[in-house]
Amino acid sequence: MRVTFCCTDTKAQPWLEGLKAALPGAEIEGWKPGAPAADYAVVWAPPQQFLDEQKQLKGIFNIGAGVDALTKLRLPAGVPLVRLDDAGMSVQMAEYVCHAVIRHFREFDAYEADVAAGKWSYRKPSTRSDFPVGVMGLGVLGTRVAQALRQFDFPVQGWSRSAKTVAGVQCFSGDAGFQDFLSATRILVCLLPLTPDTENIMRRDTLQKLRPGGYVVNVARGGHLVDEDLIALIDSGHLAGATLDVFRTEPLPPAHPFWNHSKITLTPHTSARTLRDESIAQIAGKIRALSSGTPFASLAGLVDLKKGY
Ligand code: NAP
Ligand code: GLV
Repeated sequence: MRVTFCCTDTKAQPWLEGLKAALPGAEIEGWKPGAPAADYAVVWAPPQQFLDEQKQLKGIFNIGAGVDALTKLRLPAGVPLVRLDDAGMSVQMAEYVCHAVIRHFREFDAYEADVAAGKWSYRKPSTRSDFPVGVMGLGVLGTRVAQALRQFDFPVQGWSRSAKTVAGVQCFSGDAGFQDFLSATRILVCLLPLTPDTENIMRRDTLQKLRPGGYVVNVARGGHLVDEDLIALIDSGHLAGATLDVFRTEPLPPAHPFWNHSKITLTPHTSARTLRDESIAQIAGKIRALSSGTPFASLAGLVDLKKGY
């Protein structure tokens, strides 16, 4: 069995060594143009040339949860695509989102500024029930995040495409549930995949539906958010601010107004990193299962290309 590795912005060597250790007997190689045909591909944002050249793939494994860098390419017909299924990302995402929500709710940013200015000052405690959190996307990551927020007694609601039940979380679904979800939300967390249905979902008319003093936490993709609408709504006072981990162009261009906005907190696409060891173990386990006859359909993380995630 031959496995080819083609991951943009990723150091190949440790992945190749890890995959070799996890799949003894398989030929594991970094892809170069003209490389021999492989059975399986391990990829992150590969070039179109890679997909066009690799004509005998039985399956493609993405070393991330989001597959939007692949679905925008011409994918080989009939080749299953499998994304990471958690692999250590959901706990990181829960940490990041709880941190962002609590930092805003407890005004830790304002306390940091006061302390930096040598001020010993108190703020009136906020009332938790005034800060309902709405999580868009109740998949592997969104569900973990919603459950973690419940541990801090925030009122939490979630929105997904199909109807869901998550203990302690008020669940809305589909277009029919979207307006009620938004109007019940003050802190909006985006954990949707980027698809034609979800692109630009956070824009003026949707963000205006949030409760006054709304706050945005985007940890999904930059394409979900209309940047200028967010800035206009913060500057008009309708929104209190945002914590953003993902951007339309990454790295965020130096002239982008997000860099210097006092009410926007940025991180460089780091809320839930791909963990190499966990990811190799997951992918190698799936390749071994396939080799012993398990069908693709029973693998967690199999992407439904019609839905785009
Ligand atoms: P997932 O398990 O596929 O969950 C996606 C959720 O979104 C599902 O609940 C799905 O609804 C819902 N959804 C999809 N389209 C929708 C629509 N049109 N309307 C309403 N709900 C919709 O994905 P995941 O593993 O949780 O990951 C989510 C995203 O997080 C990834 O796609 C990626 O872009 C992003 N991510 C970011 C980072 C980072 O470091 N910033 C790291 C990892 C992932 P159903 O349940 O009904 O299908
Ligand atoms: C990271 O953004 C991922 O999709 O895993």
